[in-house]
Amino acid sequence: MTETDTTHTTSLDRRTMLRSAAVGGVALPLLAACGGGEEATSGGAGSGGGPATVTASDVPVGGGTILKDQEVVVTQPKKGDYKAFTAICTHQGCTVTKVEGGQIVCPCHGSHFSITDGKPVSGPAQAPLASKKVSVSGGQISVS
Ligand code: FES
Repeated sequence: MTETDTTHTTSLDRRTMLRSAAVGGVALPLLAACGGGEEATSGGAGSGGGPATVTASDVPVGGGTILKDQEVVVTQPKKGDYKAFTAICTHQGCTVTKVEGGQIVCPCHGSHFSITDGKPVSGPAQAPLASKKVSVSGGQISVS
């Protein structure tokens, strides 16, 4: 992680230098350095359709599973108690990538969210992950 930060700083320095070299009174296009949150809408309703589903046994107690394609996180804070949240971070729209230590983790800037209620517990995100409706039937969890 430190390495990434260093690289980032270096490229920013380089960019600053380039910018200085190219000063012409023209505004540079806005940098979308941390973007990536918009692309999710390009596919419209998606090809899969229907609610996201996951096998209950794939969701660990005290942890969770991320359904990347559906952009949903399904968690099980307590045995038999399933929750679901959007997988889109409320900070800048990255998709969260893992659930660990009872928290949902966004890789972009390190926000952590509770698996119980989706509230931010650390990192820059201020708003909770929106919760979704969960129904369990025949060992299968559906999220809508
Ligand atoms: S987008 Fe910044 S922490 Fe998730």
